[in-house]
Amino acid sequence: MRVLGINGVFHDPAAALVIDGVTVAAAEEERFTRRKHGKSPAPFSTWELPEQSARWCLAHAGLTAADLDLVAYSYDPRLARPRNGDITGDGWEGLRTLYAERAPLFLKTALPGLDPSRVRFVPHHVAHAASAYLAAPHESSSVIVCDGRGETGSYLAGQAIDGSLKVLAAQSLPHSLGLMYEEATEHLGFRRSSDEYKVMALAAYGEPRFLARFRELVRANGDGAFTVERIDWSAFAPRLARGDDWQPVHADLASTVQVRLEEILLELARWLHARTGDRVLTMAGGVALNCVANSRIATEGPFEEVWVQPAAGDAGTALGAALWTAHSHGDAIQPMPGAALGRGWSDSELERRLLEARVPFETPPDIARAVAEILAADGIVGWFEGRSEYGPRALGHRSLLAHPGQAGNVGRLNVVKGRESFRPVAPMVLLDRASEIFEGPLPSPYMLFTHRVRPDWLSRIPAVVHVDGSARIQTVDRGAEPLVARLLRSFEELTGLPVVVNTSLDTAGRPMVDDPRDALECFGSAPLDALAIGSHLVRRASPGA
Ligand SMILES: [Fe+2]
Repeated sequence: MRVLGINGVFHDPAAALVIDGVTVAAAEEERFTRRKHGKSPAPFSTWELPEQSARWCLAHAGLTAADLDLVAYSYDPRLARPRNGDITGDGWEGLRTLYAERAPLFLKTALPGLDPSRVRFVPHHVAHAASAYLAAPHESSSVIVCDGRGETGSYLAGQAIDGSLKVLAAQSLPHSLGLMYEEATEHLGFRRSSDEYKVMALAAYGEPRFLARFRELVRANGDGAFTVERIDWSAFAPRLARGDDWQPVHADLASTVQVRLEEILLELARWLHARTGDRVLTMAGGVALNCVANSRIATEGPFEEVWVQPAAGDAGTALGAALWTAHSHGDAIQPMPGAALGRGWSDSELERRLLEARVPFETPPDIARAVAEILAADGIVGWFEGRSEYGPRALGHRSLLAHPGQAGNVGRLNVVKGRESFRPVAPMVLLDRASEIFEGPLPSPYMLFTHRVRPDWLSRIPAVVHVDGSARIQTVDRGAEPLVARLLRSFEELTGLPVVVNTSLDTAGRPMVDDPRDALECFGSAPLDALAIGSHLVRRASPGA
């Protein structure tokens, strides 16, 4: 059956298409509209739907909205608190519910031909959970969903057997680990629901010196759920405005929040494992993008293997809702084939775009080798190859690449991207070489774990080592990613290093590059030395040339 999944309720609107249990396409609206996170995370924006990404998913499969059997919307307004005729109460929560109830009609407007009676509401955390246990390459698993909030909850723990989910624990609002982390994000001068990863990066610069107090404020209840008391953030560190410089006390607060989050998640994972005895844990929800916490769960937790949905934030619920709905109607679900589920262009189409833009380019015999040579000469390269990624990480399809042996390249890349200097950049490495260089959960194809860099490699790849000696690696499997694997092999032949710096191809405050025009705009405005686009190579002309 043909099921279109839609996430539109809070933020990161996205669409996904599942046909006969196979994930055919998935994309985030921000990559089309070029507005980061797609929309404002306010109740007033609930009506805004992933129109462009949904239309693209259909077009990609040669379908129209009338061809869909079902549409799965990743929020169930029937589970929200009753609004009792007042849409303004509780911070306009009733308005959110009203808009969600009307989503079938909004969808009909956005996707002409759609039959609104085919829209199904899927509970938010069930959609997150399905994006993990149904998309993962495991028949059965324990599953944890942890985010800011769904309809009325913030957490779900359960067991999935042959595609069916049994919920074993859940946590209701106001207690929310995700919202706690969002509050910390805001207090530290970053954007909530957006910049949480900056808190995680900042944490590495501090010490968790408020931990004793946070262990009282945030605690597991022993029944699979937890309590988060109201936190007076200013009692720990003065509030920062956007762009203010942080002091050591701010890094200490970030470190405290991060460590307490890790401790609680470990406790919750142990509780769940004690009930299921499963080998595998699958995870989703915005908190599951916290790769430092994921690593602790993987290395110190009771499960042998941890799999995290690459679009663990709300964007991933589009896929989860579609998979769950397809499964509930009897379709056999295939694991997702990878994160490269977005738009892609053929070489001839890319050539046409380059000719149209009158950008001089060459078509080397092997683009991977040509790029490896530029990287080996310490150039910075935009890498636009294949279909774009679903989820927030660049995984070798819309990437910025650099030499890992030059410590100064972190600064250069942060200049290209126009972002804070404390932000780390990450390495990609061939899977079969990863364990020589890094210590931690393997494989790590979606950059959702952190690793220790082995001591004898620290000085060889300084650009990818964070201040605490860690690195958030992407392992590259030759079978799954042959082009990126060839690039890594070529780079190793030239430099002796089987590692390349990889960060997302974007500039500050903008979504990741998605289409060829975005790539050319990025190349035109940022100090890149070259852009690899399909099999073509655009080189920066030297000044005055
Ligand atoms: Fe969520």
